[in-house]
Amino acid sequence: MNQYSNRRKRLLETLPDNCAVMLFSGKAPMRSEDEAYPFSVNRSFYYLTGLDKEEMVLLMYKMDGIGKQMLFILPFNKTLARWVGGRMLKEEAAQISEINDIRTVSELDDTTAVLMNRMRRESGFEFYFDFWHYSMEQEETVSIKYAKKLQERYPYIKLKDIYPLIGRMRLIKDEYEISCIRKAIHTTNLGIQQMMKTAKPGLNEMSMEGVFDFVLFQALCRNKAFDTIAASGERATILHYHDNNQTMQDGELFLCDLGATYGYYCADISRTFPVNGEFSDRQLEIYNIVLNAQKIVESNACAGMKMKDLNQLVIDYYKEELPKHNLNKDLNEYYFHSVSHHLGLDTHDVDGGMGQILEAGNVITNEPGLYIADEGIGIRIEDDLLITDTGCEVLSREIIKQPDDIENFMRSGQ
Ligand code: GLY
Ligand code: MN
Ligand code: MN
Repeated sequence: MNQYSNRRKRLLETLPDNCAVMLFSGKAPMRSEDEAYPFSVNRSFYYLTGLDKEEMVLLMYKMDGIGKQMLFILPFNKTLARWVGGRMLKEEAAQISEINDIRTVSELDDTTAVLMNRMRRESGFEFYFDFWHYSMEQEETVSIKYAKKLQERYPYIKLKDIYPLIGRMRLIKDEYEISCIRKAIHTTNLGIQQMMKTAKPGLNEMSMEGVFDFVLFQALCRNKAFDTIAASGERATILHYHDNNQTMQDGELFLCDLGATYGYYCADISRTFPVNGEFSDRQLEIYNIVLNAQKIVESNACAGMKMKDLNQLVIDYYKEELPKHNLNKDLNEYYFHSVSHHLGLDTHDVDGGMGQILEAGNVITNEPGLYIADEGIGIRIEDDLLITDTGCEVLSREIIKQPDDIENFMRSGQ
């Protein structure tokens, strides 16, 4: 049994009898004319199937204790095969997912109707969909649309959200998942090193972003975890700056927040270094405060701790430390985000809530920052941590961050 079958089995075991689960891989939205945005698979669908193609549907149900699983995919299309390449064949989908009952997606409605009629007699039949959506403004997902259609036709079903159940599983990473994150971090490091070697006054932030992209492509990594932040000077005080189009000046710091992926698993790393290769005294002073904040998180992160408590440690430290460095405004002016989030198939992985207690196998970020707009200084240092029973392992420890190491590296260009 491969990891995907195993996950489906574990999920079904947690569900009550007389229920069904439907998950959609998704479809790329159109961009303009006949051009679509790049397709990005629904991560929970991928987690349960290992498949990453458009318009696939996983249907599982459990009746009288017996579980059944089927997959619906687009049929092979000879014309499309000649124009854009062949779609995934049933045999391949079956081999990756270990689902043997594979049908074409046009059979989905009829199959669901048969299931609904069998289930009609069951009271309280539960139908689980992935109802995750980011905001009210977001367009309805295919899951939400299908669930609404089903509820209209079969008013006796109880709609339920599968996201929290899959989310709980996704939060605990297994060895394979951790190895993917390690590989994504390794590639990210190659990109950061090349950026450090390339940085110089007069270069545009966009060229720095391009250096990172080039290294990723060379390493055969097509997908980044998120849009790169490449910010110099005052732009580094904007948390999610994406314009990346200003010329870097002598004496400024450069902040990059970026990540490669491996097998859809993300790295999320920030490093801050001087454009000319040497920190000024003031930059070094602030940099070391952020580095200390990181150390505090690193030495406290362990199973049993809450993310909000990790953030509170940073806040307490900053409140005590910043006034010693002539930073006397409200802390919120200098630090306005949290220090951690989960990391995995999504960069901001399943949201367990800040009050959630960390468990061994969680992977989280450690990303304190300080943003001093009136001095043109923005510093964030971000590492990725694997939580263990006794502490944490810094998965990104190979990526240099000590000021001396950075200066030496940039000076020698090695
Ligand atoms: N790159 C976004 C973040 O660090 O959360
Ligand atoms: Mn980041
Ligand atoms: Mn992050």
